[in-house]
Amino acid sequence: MAPDMPKRPKPNHAQPQRRKPQGRQRQDHKPQDHKLGRGETPGAPKPSGADLRHRAGELLEALERKIEDDQGGVPTFFDNHLKRILTQAVRPGPGVPIGLVLGPQAPRHRAPPPELERLRPFLDRFEEGRFIDYRIRRVEKPGQKPRRSEIDPDDMTLSQGAWDSLRWRGLPLFKTVYDFAIYPMLIWELQPKTIIELGSGSGASALWMGDLLQSFGLAGKVVSIDITRPGITHPRVRFLRGDCERIAEVLPVMEMIGLGHPWLVIEDAHVNVLGVLRHLHPQLRHGDYLVVEDSSIKSQALARFLAETPGAYKVDTRYTDFFGQNATASFDSIFRRV
Ligand SMILES: C[S@@+](CC[C@H](N)C(=O)[O-])C[C@H]1O[C@@H](n2cnc3c(N)ncnc32)[C@H](O)[C@@H]1O
Repeated sequence: MAPDMPKRPKPNHAQPQRRKPQGRQRQDHKPQDHKLGRGETPGAPKPSGADLRHRAGELLEALERKIEDDQGGVPTFFDNHLKRILTQAVRPGPGVPIGLVLGPQAPRHRAPPPELERLRPFLDRFEEGRFIDYRIRRVEKPGQKPRRSEIDPDDMTLSQGAWDSLRWRGLPLFKTVYDFAIYPMLIWELQPKTIIELGSGSGASALWMGDLLQSFGLAGKVVSIDITRPGITHPRVRFLRGDCERIAEVLPVMEMIGLGHPWLVIEDAHVNVLGVLRHLHPQLRHGDYLVVEDSSIKSQALARFLAETPGAYKVDTRYTDFFGQNATASFDSIFRRV
């Protein structure tokens, strides 16, 4: 958990903390070997299998601690899968000295096993930490095809429902199953006083978030804006009719000043995205969240906005990558204001 996130409630699935490498291990692995992935520079030596194994060893230790400390000894499917691969990679079997795999004599250029190679994006994320600069996320590895999501495009297509959409209280809710799982965790951790939703749709998403706030015992409110006002009500939701093309009229600065923080802002109207973000940015405070949904079709506006606000937002990979890299409609676009 970041130091300045709310102290209560304590998240029980904190991002695994990477143990600081010990001096001895550091000598055996050059810093550039540890910087695989998005930060890799063209021409840098290709990371070896031994390096990948070394990182797998660190991850295995953290995994075992997480299962014991955070989950009361109960592993998930992924934990078991990861543990099996990591154990095969770092523990060579009876009679083989561990130094032959991780030490200076390790065969540095031997290719890593394919299963471990497949885990490379996960190892990269583990190494990079939770909050990442957007530009680093967008830089692709030299020679690699863009890899925006670990979810197969067909699976992502089905994830909002095959034929019917997800429903909340019988109303169509336009979320993927991934985002349906991610938002409650984010809301629980952030404890927003205000959720601003651009694009109400049927109103289901605002109802759902209002219900979540209520059932979590949180005092927050939802302000949901759409060009067409849904014909429903909820004690925690204020539906506003308005045009995002004229966002300053719909959400005047004076009105925003009165809305309690932290904020969770969700851009899901797909209209005047840059103008909306520019209008909201001065009001966003440290620790607030900004989620831009369906960002694969908004990348130009998003890149421009982030270039205008350098260092102000970090991608929260705990959520974008919860089910694998960018397993969300908000590709690289669940941001924390820093
Ligand atoms: C994708 S839907 C929102 C879905 C909803 N947030 C959900 O998760 O179920 C997009 C919404 O944006 C609204 N919209 C379109 N143009 C708009 C505009 N100029 N200003 C405000 N809302 C607009 C549409 O009416 C539509 O309800």
